[in-house]
Amino acid sequence: MKTANILLSALALPAFLLGSCTTNPDSPGLEFMPDMYRSHAVEAYVDYGMDPYHFTEETAAAQRNTSSARKPVEGTIAYRGEDVLERALSMPYPFENTPEGYEEAGLDWHSPLKDQTAAAEAGEALYTTMCTQCHGEKGKGDGKISQNGHIVGIPDYSVKLVDLPDGKMYHTIKYGKGLMGSHASQLNPRQRWEIIAYINVLQGGDDVAEDNDENTH
Ligand code: HEC
Repeated sequence: MKTANILLSALALPAFLLGSCTTNPDSPGLEFMPDMYRSHAVEAYVDYGMDPYHFTEETAAAQRNTSSARKPVEGTIAYRGEDVLERALSMPYPFENTPEGYEEAGLDWHSPLKDQTAAAEAGEALYTTMCTQCHGEKGKGDGKISQNGHIVGIPDYSVKLVDLPDGKMYHTIKYGKGLMGSHASQLNPRQRWEIIAYINVLQGGDDVAEDNDENTH
């Protein structure tokens, strides 16, 4: 009896192990407890209809084209809480990257930041890091890249652009203009308005820019 048992186990073990061998290298072989590997939960962003390997064809057909991963309806705005300012900052920019869009932005797109002095202070740091190389420290269009002749004709904020409305500045920061590239990926909407608040200071020319320096340093 004992011998028979030993003999049986000696035969059963290789049979058990060989059972999980297949010729397909991509197949995991026989799965003894598939529930341990294959979740029955419906995962987001998985179209089970495309994946009959994990399921029977019947299950796959039943789940095909379920609504697990649909895009939101066009024009949907992510909910940003009750804060009025956060909500204003998260509104999508409504103007196209066209000359008409640029003109419309000049008329209809305004900063939601109430405290322009604080905004200009934050904007100065951003401007110094990201814009001076072309526009120059005081916005005269005389940054290093302008001096070395790579990009010429950068306009002076306090002369040529003295009347430039904020909305047009925002449009340019978002889409770029002429030789200036878009800065949309580097600056979020709040930072754009902060920089614009600082450009408003620079539009006032030397005196105002220097006054601002005295106030902020
Ligand atoms: C690579 C150089 C370069 C950099 C960097 C750059 N600009 Fe400009 N910017 C220009 C040039 C060139 C123009 C003139 C574009 C034109 O009118 O064709 C310009 C124009 C502008 C204008 C006027 C747009 C208008 O409506 O006429 C604003 C505002 C402006 N830049 C803001 C910024 C801000 C803010 C930054 C930093 C975040 C910045 N720029 C960084 C080169 C640059």
